Amino acid sequence: MTKVRVVLVMGSLNEESATSAMIQFVKARLEALEAQVDLIDLREAELPLFQPKIAKEVPAYRDMEPLVREADCFVLGSPDYHGMPSGAMKNFLDYFWREFSGKLFGYVCASDEKGLTPMDAMRVAIRQCYGWSLPYGVSGVEGSDVRPEGEVVSSTLTDRLTMLAHDLVNYGGVIRERRERDLDGDHPTFMANLRSRA
Ligand SMILES: Cc1cc2nc3c(=O)[nH]c(=O)nc-3n(C[C@H](O)[C@H](O)[C@H](O)COP(=O)(O)O)c2cc1C
Repeated sequence: MTKVRVVLVMGSLNEESATSAMIQFVKARLEALEAQVDLIDLREAELPLFQPKIAKEVPAYRDMEPLVREADCFVLGSPDYHGMPSGAMKNFLDYFWREFSGKLFGYVCASDEKGLTPMDAMRVAIRQCYGWSLPYGVSGVEGSDVRPEGEVVSSTLTDRLTMLAHDLVNYGGVIRERRERDLDGDHPTFMANLRSRA
């Protein structure tokens, strides 16, 4: 069976980032589950602010586009900025919204609280793009749960990030199969409007 393809998006521009530490942890777990994993680290991507008319000419967009198009699932990782995801993450979503229909998303948030509203905001954006979301997100507090230099230290967070990796691979495989069948078929499913692009 084809490996589930997962793209992790790291949405903090902090050099030492708790979000990055959690994303790296999930990445390692996904690799152990034999998913095909790619990382888009928005610190390195140099994605300028989205301008619709020139977006497809942007070099960073062109570099990322094949990965995003081929992905079955995504993990979106963001810091909590005033109860919202980072501007960098929102900018990424603005570029790639067309590629999200019928794909599965998991959410990770570095927050001093529980990161509920940033993860809900990402979930709303993904719902708006006809993507599926896991029914929970995982947040960690810098210092007590996760060290921004790169280490996840709390066992609760370790367990929840491990769960996220498993759920993403398992449900992602099921949703991928259904999505592909709907794209190939002729039933009036919500994927029907993407058939001409598949
Ligand atoms: C501009 C800004 C706004 C923030 N707003 C919140 C907030 O509303 N709630 C919260 O819990 N933490 C907030 N924080 C703290 C960050 O979410 C927290 O430090 C997080 O661990 C940063 O993640 P990073 O290390 O991956 O960048 C804010 C930090 C910054 C810089």
